[in-house]
Amino acid sequence: MNYRHAYHAGNFADVLKHAALMAVLVHLKKKETPFAVIDTHAGRGLYDMASGEAEKTLEAKDGIAKLLDGGTPPGILEPYVRLMREYAPARYPGSPLIVARLMRKQDRLVAIEKHPEEYDLLRPVLHQYLRARAVSGDGYRELAQLVPPPERRGLVLIDPPYEATDEFETAVRALIDAHRKFATGIFLLWYPAKARGAIEGAVGELLHAGISRLLRVELDIGRKPEDEGRALSAAGLLVVNPPFGFAHEMELVTRYLAKALARGRGAKAEVETLAGE
Ligand SMILES: C[S@@+](CC[C@H](N)C(=O)[O-])C[C@H]1O[C@@H](n2cnc3c(N)ncnc32)[C@H](O)[C@@H]1O
Repeated sequence: MNYRHAYHAGNFADVLKHAALMAVLVHLKKKETPFAVIDTHAGRGLYDMASGEAEKTLEAKDGIAKLLDGGTPPGILEPYVRLMREYAPARYPGSPLIVARLMRKQDRLVAIEKHPEEYDLLRPVLHQYLRARAVSGDGYRELAQLVPPPERRGLVLIDPPYEATDEFETAVRALIDAHRKFATGIFLLWYPAKARGAIEGAVGELLHAGISRLLRVELDIGRKPEDEGRALSAAGLLVVNPPFGFAHEMELVTRYLAKALARGRGAKAEVETLAGE
C-alpha cells in the first residue's frame, strides 16, 4: 500500500466529498435522535499543508485554497467554508475530524484506518472526542461487523484509495452487503470519475441489488493543455438514501464549485437521480 492522502488533502475531490459529508451531517442533526457515522477509510484526520507531501503536489491550490480565496459561496457551503477557515492555510481536516467536530454528544463515530502510520496519526487527532473511536484494521471487514448500528440512523462513508484495480467492485460489494443489514442508512461512496465503464458497472450493480434510492454527484474541474496525463480532474459520489433536499443542495454546490475551482476547459457539474425521487 503506497497511497498517502497527504499528497491530495484539500484538493477539489476532497472539497466535493467533505462538502457533501457536511451537508449530510446537517440533515442528520435535524432530529434529536442519535446517529452513528462509520468512516471505512479514515486517513490521518488532520493534514499539515506545509509538509513535504502536500507541497510536492500542491493539489490544494486548485481546491480548498481557491475556494477560500474566491467569492461568496452558496449558503449550503457556508458551514464547510467556516470550518475550513479554522484550519487554513496551515492545516486541512480530513473526514473523521470533520465528523468529530460536527457530531453532538449523543452521536458516535467509528473511523477505520488500515495503514499503521496513518492510524498512529489519527488516534491522537480523535482522542479528545469521547464518542469518536479510531480503529486499526480493514474498513470493509469492520463495516460488516458494525452494521446495523444500534442507533439505526446514520452514515457510512466509503472513501478507498483505488490503488487496486478491482477496488470499485470491492467497495460496491461491501456497500451492498452493509445496505442489506442497514437499509435505512445513508451511504456515500467516493470515486475517481475516470473510467466510465467502471462507474456504470458500479451503478448497475447497486440497482441490481435492489437499492431504490441512488444519486450520482460529479464534479469536473477541467484541464489545461499541459495537464495531459496528470492528476485527476473529475470525481464523484454515489449516494444511497440521500436525505430529502440533498440532490438540490448538491446541484447548488457542484455548480458553484465547477466555476470556482475550474482549472481549464471542460469544467462541469452533474447531479443525477438514478433511482427514487
Ligand atoms: C482517500 S484516503 C481517506 C481520506 C479520508 N476519508 C478523508 O476524507 O479525509 C484512503 C485511506 O484509506 C486507507 N486504506 C487503504 N486501504 C484500506 C482498507 N482496506 N481499510 C481501511 N483503510 C484503508 C489508506 O491508508 C488511506 O489513508
